[in-house]
Amino acid sequence: MFTTKELELFKSQNTPFYYYNMELLEQTLQSLTKASQKYNYHVHYAFKANTNHEILELIQSYDLGADCVSGNEVLKAKATNFPSSKIAFAGVGKSDDEINIGLDNDIFCFNCESLPEMEVINELAEKKGKIAPIALRINPNVNAKTHHYITTGLEENKFGINRWELEEVLNKLKVYKNLKLIGLHFHIGSQITDLSAFKSLCLRVNEVQQWFYSHHIIVDHINVGGGLGIGYENPDSNSIPDFESFFDLFNEILELRPKQELHFELGRAVTAQCGSLISKVLYVKKGIKTNFAIVDAGMTELIRPALYQAYHKVENITTDELEIDKYDVVGPICESSDCFGKALYLPITKRGDLVAIRSTGAYGEVLSSAYNLRSKAESIYSSNLNI
Ligand code: LLP
Repeated sequence: MFTTKELELFKSQNTPFYYYNMELLEQTLQSLTKASQKYNYHVHYAFKANTNHEILELIQSYDLGADCVSGNEVLKAKATNFPSSKIAFAGVGKSDDEINIGLDNDIFCFNCESLPEMEVINELAEKKGKIAPIALRINPNVNAKTHHYITTGLEENKFGINRWELEEVLNKLKVYKNLKLIGLHFHIGSQITDLSAFKSLCLRVNEVQQWFYSHHIIVDHINVGGGLGIGYENPDSNSIPDFESFFDLFNEILELRPKQELHFELGRAVTAQCGSLISKVLYVKKGIKTNFAIVDAGMTELIRPALYQAYHKVENITTDELEIDKYDVVGPICESSDCFGKALYLPITKRGDLVAIRSTGAYGEVLSSAYNLRSKAESIYSSNLNI
């Protein structure tokens, strides 16, 4: 739902553009920090969700850490004043240059995904005469969808270290003198709306911790990754995720050792709902069973529907027409998958109407492309426009 001022502003802009409601982002950050501070939990914002400067600056002002997955994200975190002591660097394929960026910036932690990666980080750290702090990313074998442990498929998964490799990892750690084990890292998936999946994760973390404990190891921190989902169906009634229930669950089930810190890496839950992609209807044409509303944004601005068959709410924000009809809302790109929604009920829609594609603040703009030589869509912030 947009205010009259916002709608007026939209009419004066070239379309398509990304619109960010910074007040909503601020309220989300307030709610997040209130809920996490209750238990003294540490939240790293997952940069991959949205790396717009204005958004990062606001997030940084709430003292969140950074979860980065490339050397450039680490550099961007530094450029937006995230302290090195709060930068975690994850990723299954860190290049030597990227590892060196992490080492040169004395980041909080490398989330290590394999034995060969440990070997390389150790080598590069040795060359610089540094000790690299690492967390082992352990594949928890937890199904984020069905909330049950799975027992197959681990060998097909590129992420993390499998539990049967841990004995060898500990042996190597005795040899790799330039690594310091400071944490254990887990991540089960993204857009998880049923909290029982996180319950399964907590139980698995408890088991893994017990295994380490039996090998006389207690790490400084546990990092349980991100994944908290948002309400794509009803962005207005679910504009801020239920952070309280999320953290309460970890507090209830995950068994931390004395003085051990708990870290999270949330992306989508922080930024998704503050963003909308605003687009103009170019043409309405009759199809066999439905109408096509052809809009000027496409999969180049928002690839989630084409790539993951993801649902984003589409609203006609121009008309107050009461009569409705069925529309496939499609973009101009030369791909049949360039479709934001099929057979959507919208008010009678005409050329020139504006549509809002909602909940695009995470994994929207960052995944945009120049396919078909499309121009980059602009980003507009409510904060710059005195709304
Ligand atoms: N930590 C790790 C290790 C991750 O791999 C991810 C996301 C996150 C944290 C942040 O997850 P979040 O809190 O945002 O769910 N492009 C896809 C999502 C890819 C997520 C990749 N990893 C989409 O548009 O749905």
